Amino acid sequence: MKKLIISPSILSLDYSKTSEQLKELANSKAEWVHFDVMDGHFVPNLTFGPDMLKGFKKVLPQVMDVHIMVEDAKKYADVFIDAGADVLTFHSEALQNDLSAICDLCAHIRSRGVLAGVSVRPKTSVEPLLQHLDQIDVLLIMSVEPGFGGQAFMEDMLEKVRRAREVIEQNGYSTRIEIDGGINDKTAVLARNAGCDTLVAGSYVFKQDIQSAVESLLCQ
Ligand code: DX5
Ligand code: ZN
Repeated sequence: MKKLIISPSILSLDYSKTSEQLKELANSKAEWVHFDVMDGHFVPNLTFGPDMLKGFKKVLPQVMDVHIMVEDAKKYADVFIDAGADVLTFHSEALQNDLSAICDLCAHIRSRGVLAGVSVRPKTSVEPLLQHLDQIDVLLIMSVEPGFGGQAFMEDMLEKVRRAREVIEQNGYSTRIEIDGGINDKTAVLARNAGCDTLVAGSYVFKQDIQSAVESLLCQ
């Protein structure tokens, strides 16, 4: 299994202390930073536009891990790649779970020099994607309903992680398995044991000392 990467979600940043928290985050052991884009249609919440990603990129040395929860995945994949995404993850459901459209968008993202990620909501099966993992750099398994930080971890999502890990090991794929939603020091252990190598954590990281929170997740 690959080295564990922590990707703090800046959805949970305290925006009244932006510059202090960004400095702490920049100096933490997090290798990625998770940037949640929501359009108010695919999910009932609105977040960041591309100029905000450009701004964060200027002050953070981390890999920009962009998760687009938007209906128009094709359009916004390019918009956020132009703005500096290093990993671009879109939702399978935004393309009606159409495998050929999903693989085409992954190929397009890769052709732009960016890692291609595909995410599934809790109700979406991961099974059809497993035979295409050679074309997917990051499989993002949602462990909450996408839209908001601070929700409880859905432990039954770990079955998807175990299946994906099995297929990755059997075929020697290099796909990362990332999990998003409800990660804290306890659920991180469950996720890691099930086969995740990349953990997104929002409220757990930003509601305490950022650097020690990241370290506590790395120590699992
Ligand atoms: C939810 C977002 C998550 C969110 C996670 O739709 O995709 O990345 O920020 O927040 P926590 O870790 O608080 O569940
Ligand atoms: Zn996310």
